[in-house]
Amino acid sequence: SWNEVPLAPPDSIFKLTAAFKADQFPQKVNLGVGAYRDNEDKPWVLPVVKKATSVLLNDPNLDHEYLPITGLPEFTSGAAKLILGSDSPAIQEGRVTSVQTISGTGANHLGALFLSRFYHFSPEGGRKVWLSDPTWVNHFAIFGNVQIEPVTYPYYDPQTIGLAFKPFLDTLRNAPSKSVFLLHACAHNPTGVDPTRDQWKEICDVILEKGHYAFFDCAYQGFASGDLDNDAWAVRYFVSRSVPLLVCQSFAKNAGLYGERIGALHVVAPTTEAAARVKSQLSVLSRSEISNPPAHGARLVSLILNNPELFNDWKRDIETMANRIIEMRRELHRSLTEELKTPGNWDHIINQIGMFSFTGLNAEQSKAMVEKAHIYMTGNGRISMSGLNTHNIRYVAESLDKVVRG
Ligand code: LMR
Repeated sequence: SWNEVPLAPPDSIFKLTAAFKADQFPQKVNLGVGAYRDNEDKPWVLPVVKKATSVLLNDPNLDHEYLPITGLPEFTSGAAKLILGSDSPAIQEGRVTSVQTISGTGANHLGALFLSRFYHFSPEGGRKVWLSDPTWVNHFAIFGNVQIEPVTYPYYDPQTIGLAFKPFLDTLRNAPSKSVFLLHACAHNPTGVDPTRDQWKEICDVILEKGHYAFFDCAYQGFASGDLDNDAWAVRYFVSRSVPLLVCQSFAKNAGLYGERIGALHVVAPTTEAAARVKSQLSVLSRSEISNPPAHGARLVSLILNNPELFNDWKRDIETMANRIIEMRRELHRSLTEELKTPGNWDHIINQIGMFSFTGLNAEQSKAMVEKAHIYMTGNGRISMSGLNTHNIRYVAESLDKVVRG
C-alpha cells in the first residue's frame, strides 16, 4: 500500500514548465527551464539538425541495431575533440576515455558513480563533492544517489553580483587534499558568472597544489561566447596542466537536442593503460544501467561533428542563438536602466553570460514574479534569457520594475 512512502515535492525547475502550460493568462512568460526559444517563443530545431536528419532518413543502410555499450565510436571521438581540441595531445596519446551518456545528466551520473566506486577519497575529506554555491539543483541529487555527500564552496557574491573569487580560492586551499571539485566549464548555471582566464589559472594552481580532482560539467559549450573553442578554454587549459579530471558534456542546449538525451563522459587519465582500465569499468557500469545508449541523437551529432560543411552550419546556428540572447540582455538592461529607471544597478544583466541571468531578486520577489505577473522563474532569482523576446520583454521589464519597487 506504500503508506510509508513520503510524498516528494515536484522538481523545482520542471514544475515551472507544467504551471506555465496550465496558466491561462495571455501575457504569461516562461523564464524557467534552460531551453532555447526563438523570438516567437517557439522551440528551435537547428537548421543543421534538419539537414543531418534528412541525411539519416535517406541512408538506405540505417538500421536500429544496438550501439556498442560505450556508444557510437564516431560520436564519442568527435565529441572528445570538440571539448578537448582537435589537436589535443591527451587524445593523441590515447589517454582519453569517452563514453556516450544520457545527455549531461547521464554523464554527471556515470562520472559520479565511477568516482563512488573507484576514487580514493581521503580519510580526512571523506566521500564528498564540492559544488559551487549556487549550482544546478540536480547536482545535489545526482551525487546523493551514489552516496557522495554534496558540500558547497563559495562562488557567487550577492554584494557584487559577481564571482566570490577570494572565498572560492580559500576554500580550494583549505579543503582536504584530493577533494573532488565540480566546476562549470563555461556559462555557469544558474549565475551566468564565469571566472576570467587569469582566475582560472589561479584556480588551477591551487587544484594542482592540493591534488584535487576536477569534475567539469560542460552543458553550454558555445553559449558563453558564441564560439565553441573559446568556451572550452578552461577545460583545455586544465588538461594542458595535467590536472586529474573528467568532463561531462551535453548536446541538449548547443544542438537543441533536449529530448534526444545525447551527451558524453570524458575521463582524462595519466596513461594509455589507465585509460583502458577506466574504459573497461565505465563499460561495466553503463551496461548494468542502460545496456547501450540510444542511437538517434548520437548519429545526428556524429554527422555534424565529422562533416566540415555541417560543422560550419552548426557554428552559425550557435551564433544565432548566442546573439539573440545577447540582444535580449541589452534590451532588458536598456529598459530597466533608461526607460523605467528601476532602482539598483542592472549591469550584471549584460555582464553575465550564457543562457541565464541571476537577477539578484530574492525568493519573495521571484515568487511575486510568478504569482502576480505570471512570469515563471526559479525561486533563486534565475531567469532563462531565451524566454525573452521582442514581444514580451517590455512586460517582463515592467514587472521586474514593479517587484523591485515593492
Ligand atoms: C536548467 O537548469 O533549467 C536545465 O539544465 C534543465 C534541467 O534539466 O534542469
